[in-house]
Amino acid sequence: MITKGIILAGGMGTRMSPLTKAVNKQLLPIYDKPLIFYPLSILMLAKIRNVLIIVNKGQLDQYKKLIPDGKRFGMKINYIEQDKPRGLPDAFILGKNFIKNDSVAMILGDNFFYGQSLSKMLYECVKIKNGAKVVLHKVSNPEKFGVASVNGKKILSLKEKPKKPRSKLAITGLYFFDNKVIKFAKELKPSRRNELEIVDLLNKYKKKKQLSAEFIGRGGAWLDTGSIEDFYKTSNFVSSIENLQGFKIACLEEISLNNNWITKKSIIQSIRFYGNCEYSKYLKRIIS
Ligand code: DAU
Repeated sequence: MITKGIILAGGMGTRMSPLTKAVNKQLLPIYDKPLIFYPLSILMLAKIRNVLIIVNKGQLDQYKKLIPDGKRFGMKINYIEQDKPRGLPDAFILGKNFIKNDSVAMILGDNFFYGQSLSKMLYECVKIKNGAKVVLHKVSNPEKFGVASVNGKKILSLKEKPKKPRSKLAITGLYFFDNKVIKFAKELKPSRRNELEIVDLLNKYKKKKQLSAEFIGRGGAWLDTGSIEDFYKTSNFVSSIENLQGFKIACLEEISLNNNWITKKSIIQSIRFYGNCEYSKYLKRIIS
């Protein structure tokens, strides 16, 4: 079982400037919560309790105000700074002392997932012992993402932002790797855009026939909040679902309580931490 996870939440956020000049993108709101809550909630739903968050150099203090450590959620949460965006596989080079000899999950800080069968799919993913797994989702604009073509769960090809995509299956920003990931990441050479490429890393597993796929079904949603337009689309999505159902998406304390990682007493402390707000009112409802 994979018990460690990395959230890659650095990057320059240039596509969203001036919003991201003073504040890290992952701390901006998606409806009623900071963006970072959503990828963290996915790791928690996968029962991953030990998390490393990689942030931009100079922005660690902002994060620590919101999530000083994992105590509020009964977790272990640590940070590490990335001094410049060297590419997604840099997470495994920076995170090698965190990963040690274990397998690891990684989620991009700007990815949003939602769906009924998500927990079941996550359970399948954390079971991997050897190799790597990617999570794929059908989209109408695959050329904006990494794209995979498949035969069942077997990956046939992978390409980063292809001009002529071979399929409509986007590679989402959620990955599961065995311990070879550290060695493979160190072997990578920067691409033409001078970044280490996640697709090159995945291809190393593919060559060894150790790469497989899981899918978010039609009933699920995946959104990459990379641009301002997608940011608002995601906010609207969360607002619609939450207001229709009366449940919150990515209420971290609620997931923790359901995982039996914290008690109601910890939730009272969280309510004090957040102060008088809608999120606290929701927490009060959970424990009453
Ligand atoms: O969202 C899924 C897509 O994410 C995949 O389909 C692509 O294969 C993958 O390359 C990636 O593409 P993006 O163009 O969305 O990646 P971006 O450079 O926007 O980075 C994604 C997140 O990772 C963002 O929150 C910033 C953070 N990041 C990125 C880099 C390159 C870092 O923290 N450090 C980095 O060095």
